Amino acid sequence: MQIVLPYAGIVLLIGPSNSGKSTLLKRMIEKREILPSEVISSDDFRVLVSDIEFIDWRDRPKDEADSLLGDYQSISKEAFSMMDSVIDARCRLNKLTFVDATHLHPDDRKRYLSLARKNNVPIISIVMDIHEDELLIRDEQRDNPRGKRRIRQQYQTFKKEKRFIKKEGYMSVYTIKETDNLEFNRRSNPI
Ligand code: GTP
Repeated sequence: MQIVLPYAGIVLLIGPSNSGKSTLLKRMIEKREILPSEVISSDDFRVLVSDIEFIDWRDRPKDEADSLLGDYQSISKEAFSMMDSVIDARCRLNKLTFVDATHLHPDDRKRYLSLARKNNVPIISIVMDIHEDELLIRDEQRDNPRGKRRIRQQYQTFKKEKRFIKKEGYMSVYTIKETDNLEFNRRSNPI
């Protein structure tokens, strides 16, 4: 599949945890298709604002899990606020930015659609459509597992949301089921 990247604007990665968003972007950086500074990741910004790299959600009693969720939501709120300022600045400077977060909820996607519109730059989305069983297998194998319950919840949200994404107003939507054989064609001027 050939993916046409705009000269400037926003590339929104969309997909549950373990769908391979960060891995794809890392590979693109290694192949020098994009610059490290073109990737803005919610995981990185959570660390920047809180020092916390990872919360282990597995096998927690409910009250502990609820308290952790509260912490996680506060951290995420600050992280996204910082992220959005950087993305906004990059759009004003006519830079291209890949946003690495799940973007499963419509409000999270709408924020970037508005931001792109406000700055008069294109926005495209890359939707990572990976089967739930595969997401769960990858979770067991990764260093910082997100936990089965969280993956299943995210997958359900993704399944419900994916039909709406095409109509949300992106310049293009690329749905990816596997990342082999992807070819990126980057526009070299704003037109
Ligand atoms: P979050 O940061 O949790 O949202 O996940 P993500 O979508 O960014 O997934 P990430 O790229 O961090 O990959 C999570 C795990 O899945 C890692 O252990 C990867 O090695 C593995 N993984 C990612 N892409 C692939 C793939 O194409 N094939 C296989 N087999 N594993 C993959």
